[in-house]
Amino acid sequence: MPIIVCKNQLVFKLSTDNWDYCFRCNDYGLLEHVCSSAAVPDTAETLLQTLAPDKMMPFTAYPKERDMLSNGSPGVLLQEYGTFNAGDFRIPALKVRSSDGTSTVRLRWHSCQCYAGTPVLENLPCARSVENDDCETLEIKLTDPEIGLAVYLSYTVFPHCDIIVRGARIVNESSSLLTVERAMSMQLDLAPGNYDMIQLPGAWGRERHAERHALHHGIQSINSNRGLSSHAANPALVLAERTATETQGCVYGVMLAYSGNFLGEVEVSEMDSVRIVMGINPELFSWPLTPGSSFTTPQAIIARSEQGLGGMSRQLHRFFRRHWLPEKWATAKRPLLINNWEATYFDINEEKLLNIARSAAQVGVEMLVLDDGWFGKRNNDLSSLGDWYVNENKIPNLEALVRRVNELGMKFGLWFEPEMVSEDSDLYRSHPDWVLRIPNRSYSLSRHQLVLDMGRDEVVENIFQQMKNILSRANIEYIKWDANRIITECCSGALPPERQGEAAHRFVLGVYKLHARLLQEFPDLLIEGCSGGGGRFDAGILYYAPQIWCSDLSDAADRVRIQLGTSLFYPCACMGAHVSSCPNLQNLRITPLATRGNIAMSGTFGYEMDLKELSDGERQQIAGQIAMFHRLNPLVQNGDLYRLSNICSNNHIDSWCIVSPDRQKGFLTVFRKNTDLNQPPVRIRLQGLEPDAVYQIDNRTLSGKALMNIGLTFELEQGDAVSRIIEFAVV
Ligand code: GLA
Repeated sequence: MPIIVCKNQLVFKLSTDNWDYCFRCNDYGLLEHVCSSAAVPDTAETLLQTLAPDKMMPFTAYPKERDMLSNGSPGVLLQEYGTFNAGDFRIPALKVRSSDGTSTVRLRWHSCQCYAGTPVLENLPCARSVENDDCETLEIKLTDPEIGLAVYLSYTVFPHCDIIVRGARIVNESSSLLTVERAMSMQLDLAPGNYDMIQLPGAWGRERHAERHALHHGIQSINSNRGLSSHAANPALVLAERTATETQGCVYGVMLAYSGNFLGEVEVSEMDSVRIVMGINPELFSWPLTPGSSFTTPQAIIARSEQGLGGMSRQLHRFFRRHWLPEKWATAKRPLLINNWEATYFDINEEKLLNIARSAAQVGVEMLVLDDGWFGKRNNDLSSLGDWYVNENKIPNLEALVRRVNELGMKFGLWFEPEMVSEDSDLYRSHPDWVLRIPNRSYSLSRHQLVLDMGRDEVVENIFQQMKNILSRANIEYIKWDANRIITECCSGALPPERQGEAAHRFVLGVYKLHARLLQEFPDLLIEGCSGGGGRFDAGILYYAPQIWCSDLSDAADRVRIQLGTSLFYPCACMGAHVSSCPNLQNLRITPLATRGNIAMSGTFGYEMDLKELSDGERQQIAGQIAMFHRLNPLVQNGDLYRLSNICSNNHIDSWCIVSPDRQKGFLTVFRKNTDLNQPPVRIRLQGLEPDAVYQIDNRTLSGKALMNIGLTFELEQGDAVSRIIEFAVV
């Protein structure tokens, strides 16, 4: 049983295959964290003996009633969900303002229930239970009777993925207004230890460059206040034991399933304990709760591994495949696509598109994606977002174009930017009040555009109807859903002044609602997320769109770092990765075609160029890449990723391998950024193989043990940005 509730002592033991997580209700009703460790055989009650000796620390506060009771200071105890201003001075998970003007909350035990399966959240992404996953949910109700507040904490245990998903629901049980000022989705308090934090900072064109630093006393944080999860930070962090590496040591991965403003904080307290909280960023958030109403946080996904960062990534990737990505696409092969954007930018017409499609069809590309510029009167980025009708000067007959592409044996996909509007658009002219902006005050533009107030049902309805009209007109099987600006001056014309703190979250809910409505209407539709490249690469979007364009920087040499950073949390099969033209249009680097193919091979794979402009030799090379894609893509979709060497630490070579779940086959990718004369041959020790099996690899026959313990040696050719893919299989 993944959840054991010991009723007489109110102790809870949540167990996955390799992780035990234990907490209890203490004598004065606080939810106290007991331990989190590799699996142990001890019962929940026995684990109580692992608690630190109960002791009142100097200069701490305690509840008045404590005199009769035996527990120490709440500010020192490890807790499950700390609250504001009641003796715990660490970062709180919850802060609620009551009608007396204070935001103090003191939560105490009320009750609990346990059930098989997962909670279902309305209009928010939530993990799914599948057959035989033995998943179970524990819901704890805590209350603050003095202000009439109830909090339901939920813990869903996915035993075979070593994942616990958490969330909270805040309910106003009083007869007056309560305002939620901060409601984190999770809190994890750990006993003192030496930890590093790993995060994925970035910017446009260099998203998710992993960064590791030692924790210090006080608070360290990651956040977005840009309305989207953003290029600058990603709603995911790792807490790794100082000595943990790719392959060993204890690490926790925490992810927020949310696509808007978020905050992740880690605090090392005065007593050296470590608290992690993650949730919606309180900075642009407040949520009034009228009597009887409730607020539900997005879910947080927590993984624990003793197999280092690699183990944690593989657990999360498995979890995404089994319990999170849209079921239709989670493990299915996605169409190999060609996108016209970098080949044409806005300068498109039917003939150009058909030419791109024809040369792509000849080498076996499976889908043409028509990017920006097909709608309204859009010839540059100054106009027409919001006017989702075909520009007939460019595409006189969309149905005929799609049909002709289909006749070439290819599917057809289309670009939209559903949440955005240009000032120069019919939509904006008819509904200037539908944007997020403070009335009668100055406002910011970004890429000349504004953001629609997706928190308004009529806005979602309008965009849905426009998209539906297009999607039902022709056989459009894919959409690229872009979002090319951040949110500023966030204010909704539909909300009164005292409710403006809802606007940013309502925007995200509207974005999810539109995704869900489209998928309900077109259940086979494949959505690829995008936001100026990878500005909204998060679990929230992945719930609807199983792949997200990783970055507008399509140069393979720089993509290695982006893809490897992304892979810490997100599966390879979710990373939109294409071969683009050379020199690269963004950074002008000259990267061999082979390397461009080899790096994109560990993502969704596709092309972002006009194949007609290549030489016959290059087109032949592409035919070879496509044959390789068909062999390797099932591994990328469902295999296990092992990061083997990291250019950020060795300044020389990046390598990784992807191995089938049954360990029978896989492939190794090796990449060297700069040419390097007179170096010894490369030696790579593989991982994840069957130790006693014998593999055919690079014209050699070696045991799994030899390949993992001694390694494979080979030469890389001279030159910058060279790479190789080496396939292997059990003989
Ligand atoms: C964003 C995307 C690009 C392309 C352009 C179109 O920048 O990341 O791939 O779709 O928009 O305007």
